[in-house]
Amino acid sequence: MAQRLPVLYERKPCYDIVFETSFGGLWEELAALSAEERRLCIVTDSTVDGLYGAEVLALLEGKCRKAVKYVFPAGEENKTLDTVRGVYRFLIEEGIDRKDLLLALGGGVVGDLTGYVAATYLRGIDFVQIPTTLLAQADSSIGGKTGVDFDGYKNMVGAFKMPRLVYMNLDTLKTLDDRQYFSGFAEVMKHGLIRDAAFYEWLLEKMYEICERDLETLEEMLFRSCTVKKLVVEKDPTEQGERALLNLGHTIGHAIEKYKNFTLFHGECVALGIVAAAFISWKRECLSMEEYYEIRDMFVPFYLPISVEDIDPEEVLRLTKSDKKMEAGTIKFVLLKKIGKAFIDRTVTDEEILAAVREIHFSEEDAHE
Ligand code: GLY
Repeated sequence: MAQRLPVLYERKPCYDIVFETSFGGLWEELAALSAEERRLCIVTDSTVDGLYGAEVLALLEGKCRKAVKYVFPAGEENKTLDTVRGVYRFLIEEGIDRKDLLLALGGGVVGDLTGYVAATYLRGIDFVQIPTTLLAQADSSIGGKTGVDFDGYKNMVGAFKMPRLVYMNLDTLKTLDDRQYFSGFAEVMKHGLIRDAAFYEWLLEKMYEICERDLETLEEMLFRSCTVKKLVVEKDPTEQGERALLNLGHTIGHAIEKYKNFTLFHGECVALGIVAAAFISWKRECLSMEEYYEIRDMFVPFYLPISVEDIDPEEVLRLTKSDKKMEAGTIKFVLLKKIGKAFIDRTVTDEEILAAVREIHFSEEDAHE
């Protein structure tokens, strides 16, 4: 029996997150959304299509009014309005109307982009998230943030649009390459650090099973991780306050991602950003030195970086200050009061940011000291 986590929106049940280990239960979930009376359009990318496109399409064919699939080339560089335009055109050509349903089958790029199409096509059409990466299952498929990148600015154009269902087949995590898989773990760690110290401790204990991708462990890990995200987004769906806590590690993380021209994965940059935020939290005497080093070193067995080569800290600071998380000229920085409790601080100085960036900057000189 699949586990199920209902997410509320404006205090009413809005959609379920369903945790499964195959696509076997997908049709039943879609049928509960009257899928047999609707046209269904899978939107996916070239990588995920090769793995699951045919399987998922076959599950729908013959059961609904029409089942079609739109595939775009995989990669963050395709998370653009040009790709959105291609999807719109396909939907028009296939006669998809407002009563029909889009299925976002893939990782964060597919989910964010399809969600944005769903928010805007015909002024809004239902969509379902079927996330297939750890990053998408732990984070981006939940909470209704959708969007695309614009001129090198990440997620600059977007909308809030809640999915009708999030269906996770945890078995898909087995087909991710190590770098993709471990990159998603940074968001899981983030959820423990911001709100659930017991979950953080559990992650420390279960390190081996998580690295081995043991399905039972993954199910518990994602259920607990998604519970944190659900509680935060239910309280603050449109990020007026508390939801910003989910940006732990993202302020400096996004700056490094941009500085490195998106050659590092998002989760890798989030790990670096969390180390930097934990460093500032230690210097402000919120965390002890031991806690700072424990958080930092926790990323190592998950093959996540705790330092980065060849950056100019001053330039990273400049990029940090040009991020969209700025408000009225101040940075909304997320720090840790303690493990399991994050807070938003608007007083972090340039000097503190520079010291944190220098802390995670690996230079040859340091290596020879
Ligand atoms: N990934 C951060 C959020 O959903 O708010």
